[in-house]
Amino acid sequence: MRRPAEVDDHLATAKRVAGWLRPAWVEVDLAAVQANVAYISGLVAPARVCAVVKADGYGHGAVRVALAALAGGATHLGVALAEEGHELRQAGIEAPVLVLSEPPPEAMRLVIEDRLTPTLYTQEGAQALVSAAGRLAPAAPVPVHLKVDTGMHRVGARPHDVVELAKAILQEPWLHLEGLFTHLAVADEPDDPFTPHQLEVFEATREALAAHGIRPDLLHAANSAGALWHPRSRYDMVRPGLALYGLAPSPWVEGSLVGGLRPALSLRAEVSYLKEVPAGEGLSYGLRYRLRQASTVATVPVGYADGVPRRLAETGGQVLIGGKRYPIAGSVTMDQLMVDCGPGADVRKGDEVVLLGRQGDEEITAWDWANRLGTIAYEVTCGLSPRLPRVYSSYS
Ligand SMILES: Cc1ncc(COP(=O)(O)O)c(C=O)c1O
Repeated sequence: MRRPAEVDDHLATAKRVAGWLRPAWVEVDLAAVQANVAYISGLVAPARVCAVVKADGYGHGAVRVALAALAGGATHLGVALAEEGHELRQAGIEAPVLVLSEPPPEAMRLVIEDRLTPTLYTQEGAQALVSAAGRLAPAAPVPVHLKVDTGMHRVGARPHDVVELAKAILQEPWLHLEGLFTHLAVADEPDDPFTPHQLEVFEATREALAAHGIRPDLLHAANSAGALWHPRSRYDMVRPGLALYGLAPSPWVEGSLVGGLRPALSLRAEVSYLKEVPAGEGLSYGLRYRLRQASTVATVPVGYADGVPRRLAETGGQVLIGGKRYPIAGSVTMDQLMVDCGPGADVRKGDEVVLLGRQGDEEITAWDWANRLGTIAYEVTCGLSPRLPRVYSSYS
């Protein structure tokens, strides 16, 4: 039930250095990230792994996660924004960084200065990149990946426009067409026939390019679900996000199909206040949670401003204290929530409270929250606010 001593050291240091006084924090197990990437790398070899660390590494901290993923065998990193790539470069990371959507024209300067690999799917985007390259004269042609929309219809060139766009890219001495990729819409539902359909469209696009002598080095399509559950989608590289963080991309697929993934993130706090409250009293705003019996009520200093959704209480959300489950009692407020520990509970001020993660034999996962809230684990981890300090345990 104890945290590793190393994490306690980090906690003490973080508190001292950051002047961090509130006992509430996100713990990120970087060894788990490293192990998850090593597991995925082994599964998909010889395909490479592009670790997707956008949105601040799904709330885990992009730079730290990127370093752990590279140590686990990832060769590339994926981000949504040029600004996110910039953050990685500022931290001294030299691995190739793929920007997964076409950057707006104003971002092309940063793309080149930071040696990022942009995605392209419009002639305008290609022209904006060429103009920026003409001004900045990079030492080597800018590698680009062309994205084809095979059915998700979010971003990507239409399949019948790809040859034209590829030819335009090849004519530009400033550009190097390094990759061709697509994104899967329903790979998290392993039996859905739309995934093989998307892969057929993707492969037909590859053939159409090959017929014109165009053969990009890196073909990729797989997100986490593709990498885990659709071997055909692995091609030359896979782009897992959620799986790096140890979460399966679907709550309904378990066991051997999820393999050795280990959740990296936990959300922890300490009991900040305790009181005995008589039976019949209501708790929190609205007083809708009524105590059936006299109970110990613990206050925990995290709230919806930290990314603990208000609705979690109404939907049966729980926390762990002393290895036992207790209900969140009454509405989660902006900075604090309350826990009904029942009568005669052995709970003290300063006890560790686990909102997400493991304590003893019990575990609350991001998917537990997501299922209660009618959302997905992605939204849970991305929603943990920057106000919560991140504490990292290291990797080898
Ligand atoms: C283009 C692209 N590739 C890969 C990923 C990673 O997806 P996942 O987290 O499901 O593995 C994402 C995430 O949304 C994405 O947009």
